[in-house]
Amino acid sequence: MIKVAINGYGTIGKRVADAVAAQPDMEVVGVSKTRPSAEAYVANKRGYPLYIADIKNREKFEKVGISVAGDVEEMLKHADVVVDATPGGVGAKNKALYELFNVKAIWQGGEEHEVAGFSFNSSCNYEAALGRDAVRVVSCNTTGLCRIINAVDSVFGVGKVRATMVRRGSDPGGIKKGPVDAIVLNPVTIPSHHGPDVQTVLPHIDIVTLAMIVPTTFCHMHVVQMDLRADATREEILEIIEKHPRMGLVRKGTGITSTAELKEYACDLGRPRSDLWESCIYEESVSVVGKRELYLFQAIHQEADVVVENVDAIRAMMNGTPDPLESISTTNRSLGFTPL
Ligand SMILES: NC(=O)c1ccc[n+]([C@@H]2O[C@H](COP(=O)([O-])OP(=O)(O)OC[C@H]3O[C@@H](n4cnc5c(N)ncnc54)[C@H](OP(=O)(O)O)[C@@H]3O)[C@@H](O)[C@H]2O)c1
Repeated sequence: MIKVAINGYGTIGKRVADAVAAQPDMEVVGVSKTRPSAEAYVANKRGYPLYIADIKNREKFEKVGISVAGDVEEMLKHADVVVDATPGGVGAKNKALYELFNVKAIWQGGEEHEVAGFSFNSSCNYEAALGRDAVRVVSCNTTGLCRIINAVDSVFGVGKVRATMVRRGSDPGGIKKGPVDAIVLNPVTIPSHHGPDVQTVLPHIDIVTLAMIVPTTFCHMHVVQMDLRADATREEILEIIEKHPRMGLVRKGTGITSTAELKEYACDLGRPRSDLWESCIYEESVSVVGKRELYLFQAIHQEADVVVENVDAIRAMMNGTPDPLESISTTNRSLGFTPL
């Protein structure tokens, strides 16, 4: 069994912990928090050993009935690999600690590419992560862009991509972020950082991205346009999406034309936490203008799409299987991930 520690048990970390616990070849050896919280209670309830960043705070946890197994350093002694899911920017500061304890490390998209020197997406570059000691799983938006661009590029060739990200203002549990009543151009300058981030995985892609933030909490919405190098039909693009293990079609027949209805649908499908691990591409939006201009809308569940990528990254780094499709299929199957 691959022994996995999760440093930072928040939005991403708690999902990664549950996804790891569901795998046949992995176990959670610990998760970490800095302060007592509802998530810390849940970690205890789930039976994940709970470690804390600063052991001087042990009493604060124990006073409110939360058991503490030790500090983060102690957690690392039990791990083959650590998934760093601390807030953006904090992860890079942990690098020296992971090196000291000789533990392989995975960082998230809130860190710079340079923290690991390798940016990962299961469908694009799994093989290049085999046996690596350090990997960065790209952000939720970059993951969504990489999946569709790489899939279309592999069949038709992609000349250029122009995409606009309409981003959620906060995660559902966030009470300190906004906007409440504004559309914020973020950044107002063009391009946004998302295009260069895609190029950390797919360096040959000509991509320009724009981004704004809106007052919603479930999903980013991407408006994607690609110029293709070969003639394509709408049906051929739909087939690529349908065959992809991490992309799903939001069918015309569901009548879903929003993220709110998509959330209700995920809930009704019985997805844990309403999580949508796949990119959700609106079937009716998929359009080929002329023969080489592709357009589509895709919803990206920011809390979920990177979770399955972390699981595959662990398997690649630990040489669990050299075959990306085998890893992706084990990850999906273990989570009960059935098509939309
Ligand atoms: N949320 C998203 O939509 C999303 C999507 C894709 C990627 N990401 C990336 O994933 C990473 C984590 O984001 P998140 O949204 O999951 O953050 P989050 O919800 O704020 O969770 C971060 C967790 O890290 C813990 N933590 C903070 N400082 C720590 C430290 N020094 N040592 C150990 N644990 C510490 C926090 O614990 P306490 O609460 O106890 O302080 C919290 O449990 C970031 O790089 C982010 O950019 C986020």
